Amino acid sequence: MEKLLRNSFMFLSKNKMMTKLAKKYGLRFGAARFVAGNTIDVAKDVIKQLNNKGLDVTLDYLGEFNTDANEAAEAADHCIKAIEVIGRERLKSQISIKLTSMGLDISDDVVLENMRRILAKAKDLRVFITIDMEDYSRCERTLKIYKQLKSEYDNVGTVLQAYLYRTVKDVEDLGAYQANLRLVKGAYKESANVAYPDKKDVDQNFKKIIKMHLLNGHYTAIATHDDQIIEYTKQIVNKYKIPKTQFEFQMLYGIRPEKQLDIVHEGYKMRVYVPYGTDWFGYFMRRLAERPANVAFVLKGLIKR
Ligand code: FDA
Repeated sequence: MEKLLRNSFMFLSKNKMMTKLAKKYGLRFGAARFVAGNTIDVAKDVIKQLNNKGLDVTLDYLGEFNTDANEAAEAADHCIKAIEVIGRERLKSQISIKLTSMGLDISDDVVLENMRRILAKAKDLRVFITIDMEDYSRCERTLKIYKQLKSEYDNVGTVLQAYLYRTVKDVEDLGAYQANLRLVKGAYKESANVAYPDKKDVDQNFKKIIKMHLLNGHYTAIATHDDQIIEYTKQIVNKYKIPKTQFEFQMLYGIRPEKQLDIVHEGYKMRVYVPYGTDWFGYFMRRLAERPANVAFVLKGLIKR
C-alpha cells in the first residue's frame, strides 16, 4: 500500500496539468506546512523567525523543468531579488537552485548565462549558492555545469545522492574541486540500473560518502531527518576530530522542527531548506512520497476547504 502511494505521488509530482492548477489556486492541501509562502516578502519573515531561533537557512525559489528561455531568465531574476533581500536584511541564508529552472533542458548556454548572473550578484553580497541535484538523467550535466561554474566562482556547491551507484566515484572526483557538498539520500524515482532499490543499501552508502567527504577535509552538509544518520555523523566527527566549521546538518522546512532546534542546542549548525513561490506542487508531492504518513495533512487540508 505504502509503495503504491509513493509511486502515485511521484507520478503526480511530474503532472503538468496539476502543476498549472496549483500555481493558479495557491498553497492548498496542507502544502503550507512545507512551503514558506508565495512571495519573497513572506519567505523573508519566515527566514527571520528561523534565524531568531538559531537556525540558518537555504532559500529555494520553487520551479523546475523550464523549457522557455524567458521563463528561465525570470526564475533567475527571482533568485537575484532574493539574494538582494538576503544581503539588505542581513539574513543568515544561502540560496538553493535547480538547474532545470534555469534552463538545463534548453541548453548549457542558457543555464550558464543565468547561473553566472546569479553567482556574480551572490558573490558581491557574500551569499552561497547550492545547485540541487535532480533526477539521474540530469546528474552528469548538472555536475559538468557545477565544475565549470566552480572554476569561475568560489561561492557555489552542489548535491550528491546516496542512492546512486555512481556517487562514491563522484565524491572522489569532486575532491579535486574542493567541493562544498550537500549529501542526501535522493528524492526521485530511479531504476535499479542506476540506484540502490533497497533502503538499507542507500543508508550504508550514505554513511560511506559522509565519512569519505569529511575525511577528505571538504565542507559537508548532511541533509537528512534520519536519527540513525545524524548519530553516525556525530560519532565520525568526534572520532576524527572534524571541526564544527567543516560540516553542518540540514533539514527541510516543516519536517521535524523540534529536532532541528535540539541539534542547534547541542551546538551544531543546522540549516533549514525553505522553499517559496507558486510552483509548489512537484515539491509537495515529493515530500508526500517520502513519507506517506504526511497524507493525513492532505486529508485535513481537504476537509478544511
Ligand atoms: P528518510 O525519509 O529515509 O527517513 C528516515 C527516518 O527519518 C524515518 O524512518 C524517521 O525515523 C525519520 N523521519 C523522516 N521524516 C520524519 C518526520 N517527518 N517526522 C519524524 N521522523 C521522520 N534530494 C535530492 O534528490 N536532491 C536534492 O538536491 C535534495 N536536497 C535536499 C536538501 C535538504 C536540506 C534535505 C533535508 C533533503 C534534500 N533532498 C534532496 C531530499 C532527500 O534526498 C530525501 O528524499 C529526504 O531528505 C528524505 O530522506 P531522509 O534522509 O530524511 O530519510
